[in-house]
Amino acid sequence: MERTDIRDEAQALNARLVEWRRHLHKHPELGFDTQNTAAFAAEQLEAMGAADIKTGVGRGGLTAVIQGEKPGGVLGLRADMDALPIHEETGLPFASSEEGKMHACGHDAHTAMLLGTAKLLSRHRAELKGAVKLIFQPAEEIGAGAVAMIRDGALESPRVDAIAGLHTGNFWTGASAGEIGYSRGALMASADMFTLSITGTGGHGAQPDRAVDPIAAACQIYTAIQTIVSREVPPAQAAVVTVGTIQAGSAANIIPPSCTMQGTIRTLFPETRTRIQERIREIAEGVAGAMRASASVKFTYGPPPVICDSGMTEKLIRAAGRIVGPEHVRPVDAPTMVAEDMAFFLEKVPGVFFWHPSAVGEGENYPHHHPKFTVNEEVLWTGTGTMTELALTWQEQVTPQPAAGRGQALS
Ligand code: NI
Repeated sequence: MERTDIRDEAQALNARLVEWRRHLHKHPELGFDTQNTAAFAAEQLEAMGAADIKTGVGRGGLTAVIQGEKPGGVLGLRADMDALPIHEETGLPFASSEEGKMHACGHDAHTAMLLGTAKLLSRHRAELKGAVKLIFQPAEEIGAGAVAMIRDGALESPRVDAIAGLHTGNFWTGASAGEIGYSRGALMASADMFTLSITGTGGHGAQPDRAVDPIAAACQIYTAIQTIVSREVPPAQAAVVTVGTIQAGSAANIIPPSCTMQGTIRTLFPETRTRIQERIREIAEGVAGAMRASASVKFTYGPPPVICDSGMTEKLIRAAGRIVGPEHVRPVDAPTMVAEDMAFFLEKVPGVFFWHPSAVGEGENYPHHHPKFTVNEEVLWTGTGTMTELALTWQEQVTPQPAAGRGQALS
């Protein structure tokens, strides 16, 4: 059966997507306080005839269902809605009207694109198999919204079988607006924090023999920690261990009783993530012990790595190819070590997260979280089109495309 061309429909919807995005851009909200954004989205969903619209899921979040008329599974589609505590400097006519708040990461576009997807899917309920659960999440920037929504049952009733989401912007340098980028494995990194407390015995700077110097132990620990990535992590598995703070002491002639170090760990594989945590603990305790001091480590866990399911990735490649043309669907050059809350959903449900590059004109691109960051509105429809096409086809089999031009390496 020949289906309607989603590409044309999505393209025709772009003006509406821009309108929604500008409204959201003008009225940014932070963290879990996304009630007005959720209310705005709920109002649009209501007008489209979406079912089961629930606000307050994970505090500021929203879920809704587009019920298909054919039997089938449930695909979750997720967008984040929160902005950042930044004073906007774009000078755009629809710049933020809220002092000190700004959509500087493109989440306004994500919300608009998912609303557009709901709109197109609501027109195609007759051919939609199963249902689509729309998940609008708060508090992505503080890494807490996904967990709160999952705890509030966002992935239940109806139970979500697979999930997809996207990030717009210019994280993927070298990509142009209108392309779609994917990874067959990790797309983004995990982000955990550690606090290392080293305890010695304070004393006079002139009598080190009567003290246990925690700074000396900290320096050894710092150096030893550097060998985790360089000597213990497989070279092709990117990982980062950065110590960002070391604090101790109050005067030149005093040996302080303790020293504290804080750092961040970024990994692309769950095994690497666990291994690095174990090794930081072992090294800190062992080296501190060897230096007559003691150490304790506390981890603050952020999102796990964003890992894409290979089957869902193939389906995304097919869907995106029908919207932007197969030649504009490319594997990313490398994962980014930035983290994403979407990872919590992907930990529960197999799915795919993909790049929706939306760089603007030459010389006008600012990094994410910059006061002048903006997105290219002309390609909003490609995100909407890709998600809609994926929702309509993810339950159909796909033959994986062999990687082109790859010879067998010798050694
Ligand atoms: Ni973001």
